[in-house]
Amino acid sequence: MFSKGATMRQEIAKLVELDRQRTLLTHIGAVLGWDQETYLPEKGIEERSEQLSLIEGLAHEKAVDPQIGELLAATEAAKDLSPEEAAYVKLTRREYDKETKLPSEFVMEYAKQASLSQAAWSQAKSANDFSLFAPHLETMIRMNKERAAYLDSGRKPYDVLLDLFEYGSTEASVAAVFSVMKKDLVALLDKIAAQPPVDDSFLHVPVSAEIQAKMSRYLMDAVGYDQKRGRLDTTAHPFTTTLGRDDVRITTRYVENYFPSSIFSTIHESGHALYEMNIDPHPDFRGTRLAEAVSMAVHESQSRMLENFVGRSRAFWEKHYPAIQAMAGEPLANVDVDRFVKAINKVERSLIRTEADEVTYGLHVIVRFELESAIISGNLAVKDIPQAWNAKIKELLGLDVPNDRLGCLQDVHWSMGAFGYFPSYALGNLYAAQFWEVMQEQIPNLEQKISRGELGDMQQWLKVNVHSKGSLYLPGELLQKVTGKPLDPSCFARYLNKKFS
Ligand code: CO
Repeated sequence: MFSKGATMRQEIAKLVELDRQRTLLTHIGAVLGWDQETYLPEKGIEERSEQLSLIEGLAHEKAVDPQIGELLAATEAAKDLSPEEAAYVKLTRREYDKETKLPSEFVMEYAKQASLSQAAWSQAKSANDFSLFAPHLETMIRMNKERAAYLDSGRKPYDVLLDLFEYGSTEASVAAVFSVMKKDLVALLDKIAAQPPVDDSFLHVPVSAEIQAKMSRYLMDAVGYDQKRGRLDTTAHPFTTTLGRDDVRITTRYVENYFPSSIFSTIHESGHALYEMNIDPHPDFRGTRLAEAVSMAVHESQSRMLENFVGRSRAFWEKHYPAIQAMAGEPLANVDVDRFVKAINKVERSLIRTEADEVTYGLHVIVRFELESAIISGNLAVKDIPQAWNAKIKELLGLDVPNDRLGCLQDVHWSMGAFGYFPSYALGNLYAAQFWEVMQEQIPNLEQKISRGELGDMQQWLKVNVHSKGSLYLPGELLQKVTGKPLDPSCFARYLNKKFS
């Protein structure tokens, strides 16, 4: 219920109404963006970028409506707000102040350039030709520096950008957490490297896209993704996107000679989708900013928990391996569940982040974090990125990068201008481990339940404690509320050491 004061109720209701229109426009933009990544014919990109630009411009206009400023001023002084109302007013203030600093022309131009840049990246990646992407990357970097300057010219641009993904984080705070994480990971990696290598040759066999799609749909059901509220398609880079309250879609990709790529992408994206589908901090705030995910790191904690903590566990495959084994046919015919679970958890220094194991994954993120902070601070020029990338991979993972497709062209993020996003992935692991420890204490026999294919208690726990909350709390507040302590990287180190020793 809204609070008692009648005027107050009207003012907040008006804020909600304006916000819902903005959300509708955002979802319409998501339909266009989803289509661009899935089915848009190649030559449709020019007008599509204009369509996206127009929609972004309209959503921005809604977000900076002067009425919002007046309504906020009237409600901020109120003493009798409910916790949801207070959180909503605070959140709306923060977003309003941010949006009003960005000129409309800039927002529209940014949407257009990001759309073109993403299409160019996709072509450059297929052609393994960085030069096709370089001019667009140049534009996205320049526009992100401009964006940072509009938002807060007094702070380091990279700090301002990080804030957009994980509110309250800075380059220094991320670097401090990462330096602890790096030490833990390298120590564990050295220990594992001293063991005899795991045989995963039976995973590197041809499995048709059709069969992989069947596996994906089976796993979506297994983890509780409601296929009547979303759908699965294929893209160059798997993602989840919310097109509506009951329309949260995921994508995956089928690598012919390595089917685990698609099945773990599907489980990962299902984790994102379940979060989105379950957000509901309060019925009065449906369709508003309060009913949006709190941060990218919390988002990643949900996808990575489902992908790794659950989806790569012995317990999960106890139940589901027979089905996947049967679908795969010949290649897995003589592979028992123990060998399969060992193989999908093989730890190995490799080139591709999205296919990296849980131990080396964090190192891939550190590579990107260090490079993008240098890019945004102006210490790394676009033409030098491929070489700098290769040098960092050599330094942290000890590998030679044979080409840019397997190097700096592998990820979509910079093409969309998402500088400051990568740290969320590693922070997501840390959050996931911290949630996981508490969840295990609070759900009796969780592992046995997972091994029987019963994920209901777990999904309910996540829904109540994390998903449903939306943006009611800041990420750090949520973590504190659920786990009783601030971010503690030692949970993740404990989880990995237990699993891999
Ligand atoms: Co993700």
